[in-house]
Amino acid sequence: MKAAVITRYGSPDVIKILDAPKPTPAADEVLIRVHAATVNRTDCGELRARPFFMRFFHGLRRPKRTIFGLDFAGEVEAVGAGTLSFKPGDRVFGMCPSRSNGAQAEYVSVPERTVAAMPAGARFDEAVVCEGAFYANAVLKKIDLKAGHKILIYGASGAIGTAMVQLAKSSGAAVTAVVSTRHLELVKSLGADRAVDYTTEDFTRLGETFDFVVDAVGKTSFFRCRKLLKPGGIFAATDLGSWGQNLVLAMWSSITGSNRVVIPAPGRINGFIGFLKSRMEAGQFRAIIDRKYALAAIVDAYRYVETGQKVGIVVINVAATDESANVAQTSQGG
Ligand SMILES: NC(=O)c1ccc[n+]([C@@H]2O[C@H](COP(=O)([O-])OP(=O)(O)OC[C@H]3O[C@@H](n4cnc5c(N)ncnc54)[C@H](OP(=O)(O)O)[C@@H]3O)[C@@H](O)[C@H]2O)c1
Repeated sequence: MKAAVITRYGSPDVIKILDAPKPTPAADEVLIRVHAATVNRTDCGELRARPFFMRFFHGLRRPKRTIFGLDFAGEVEAVGAGTLSFKPGDRVFGMCPSRSNGAQAEYVSVPERTVAAMPAGARFDEAVVCEGAFYANAVLKKIDLKAGHKILIYGASGAIGTAMVQLAKSSGAAVTAVVSTRHLELVKSLGADRAVDYTTEDFTRLGETFDFVVDAVGKTSFFRCRKLLKPGGIFAATDLGSWGQNLVLAMWSSITGSNRVVIPAPGRINGFIGFLKSRMEAGQFRAIIDRKYALAAIVDAYRYVETGQKVGIVVINVAATDESANVAQTSQGG
């Protein structure tokens, strides 16, 4: 099979499109012919082994796995002997565990528990949304967001941010989204009650306070945001922050029991894909697709994602015959 193969850490130039062995599904696995995959910030961090300590998880000298890519959507090609839920030909989507080979390839084999049937009516490129939603959901679960809470989401235009606005809204929370001018209409269309332009307005002086402030893009800090928090309010980060300050603050918050700063760790994938499918079918969650690239052009996709300017997701159309295949097309409506 064709695959984007990565055998050493470095810039996107180390990625090569090569022939790789087609995986064989283990007893509890499903072999999927991939139609759509993504390139996201997690892939870019793994490619460059940043932050450095991630080498202890991904491989000290070189990546332990050679094919990246967390999201997939496609058709079941074969199933393992102990697999009960799927059969060849089923249209499915889901998320690859980060320790085994990923979906930037023509085929991927994944545990049955990380796969769900495609949301009714969705195209393959509209279903490769799990990674951002998974991290967004981890944050919302950690802070226990409920109906009536007020949440401010800083950096609401990325993969995590666009997912978080939608999931927070579907929980019944009042959502304030902070983005640049070009994304104001987008976040309103996703359900934000208030959209704030960080390029023209000081978002820390909104004249109101929040139960939760989330930095969804790693570009602000607890010290900048603390006056936005109600007494007992929580600052949550998806990133370690400059000089790892969020990590230090989260550890201190945990030691003192204040829980003022948290960096939610994503849990297990089990059950999450089915949860997202139900949200999509209820019309409460949709993909925000920025650009689409063919697998052969994946190096360009990595370069673009590394700019930190993408909106929602960047799709890799792996199956050349896919009806939604369009190279470097922008389609924010999904
Ligand atoms: N916790 C985890 O395990 C985990 C996993 C994956 C990613 N992450 C981290 O989470 C963060 C977000 O990931 P992502 O995939 O959602 O990012 P992303 O999609 O790359 O975010 C890009 C968006 O951020 C906006 N942005 C750029 N600079 C900004 C600024 N100064 N203020 C506000 N918005 C800004 C950009 O629009 P504009 O430039 O127009 O504002 C763009 O729409 C990253 O820092 C990533 O490292 C954490």
